[in-house]
Amino acid sequence: MPKILVLNGPNLNLLGDREIQHYGKDSLDTINQRLAEQGKRLGLEVTAFQSNAEAPLIDRVHAAKSDETAYIIINPAAFTHTSAALRDALAAVRIPFIEVHLSNIHAREEFRRHSYFSDLAAGVIAGLGPVGYELAL
Ligand code: DQA
Repeated sequence: MPKILVLNGPNLNLLGDREIQHYGKDSLDTINQRLAEQGKRLGLEVTAFQSNAEAPLIDRVHAAKSDETAYIIINPAAFTHTSAALRDALAAVRIPFIEVHLSNIHAREEFRRHSYFSDLAAGVIAGLGPVGYELAL
């Protein structure tokens, strides 16, 4: 079964409680559970990983190379707008990825409009809520 890695960045562990006007009421566990079920139907092995820090996310991207992950779905959260290091990790492993944002980052503060990931991504989904992850899968 092809392996799909779903990566979530800082503060996304608080989904369901955090700024629900932007991010909705679903918890990250609920979103991940749905993705795992959808993966089963599609014949994909879905693994989820979330961290509030940059290094564990970078290390997980590196590990994806050796565990033969076929595709990555990533919501880098605030690292979208700051992390050249996480971008470089994705470029280094050369695993195709889709960038997902729950909110429409282009309709919010100016600093959210720039992403370190979008020009490397196979696709970008923003503003559709948790369905964005399902479409990416
Ligand atoms: C986010 C948008 C980012 O700007 C923000 O820092 C997040 C979540 C989203 O899913 O809409 O934490 O990536």
